Amino acid sequence: MDHIFNGRTLNFAHRGASLLAPENTLAAFELAAQQGADGIELDVRLCRTGEWVVIHDVRLNRTTNGRGFVRAKSIDELRRLDAGSSFHQSFANERIPILAEVLDWAKGRVLLNIEVKSQARAHTGAELRLLNLLRRHGMRQQCLISSFNPIVLRRLARLDPGLPTALLLNVKWLRRGTAKSLTRMMNINALHISRRLARPRFLEHIRRAGLRVMVWNANDPATLRKLVAYGVDGIITDAPHLLNDILGRTLSR
Ligand code: G3P
Ligand code: CA
Repeated sequence: MDHIFNGRTLNFAHRGASLLAPENTLAAFELAAQQGADGIELDVRLCRTGEWVVIHDVRLNRTTNGRGFVRAKSIDELRRLDAGSSFHQSFANERIPILAEVLDWAKGRVLLNIEVKSQARAHTGAELRLLNLLRRHGMRQQCLISSFNPIVLRRLARLDPGLPTALLLNVKWLRRGTAKSLTRMMNINALHISRRLARPRFLEHIRRAGLRVMVWNANDPATLRKLVAYGVDGIITDAPHLLNDILGRTLSR
């Protein structure tokens, strides 16, 4: 885990620098890297032909000029879509990235927090395919996998116990005393909690359970400052440039 969490508050760009560029595109990732982000948070799901593609929603409608479910489309159909114009016409050339190309782009440059968007309970081999992709691209050491779906995380932990994983929480269902059993059950290393859950007592409870904690999605200076003061392990933000300033880090890229 120390190869991801290094003792200082990590600056993760939520879907890239999504305040200023179309979410989950290479343009947003490139901008986040230039703005000093330590890592990129991105959403992945499988398309019909079996590739992991980078897109948040289950449907294409909100962020692209396509219609329908991502899982019903082939990779060729998806690659023809415009994933930038719905944000601004100047991004009309942006495409839905394939995870493989993002791995190559990020290598040796930024960390990746890959959020697996999957409701699936049945075993399909998807987690093994993801793990093999990370290994083939030499990116296992630079990636942290998160999901709202604990089944996905448990399967990944069984396949590769050393792979850093994080469970996403947006409701306060985690009660005192249960964090330890969660880590045993799933072998997770971190909790990624929504900012409304980020209160000192809860953060302390998570830490005592031996887990790292990242907070999403904080974008205003006051909240970012508060979270930095709490000493969280990472913040996932649409505005990595703001967080970089608050952390007092200079731009080296
Ligand atoms: O990874 C944290 C956050 O991205 C989870 O929510 O809906 O933005 O994917 P969402
Ligand atoms: Ca996400």
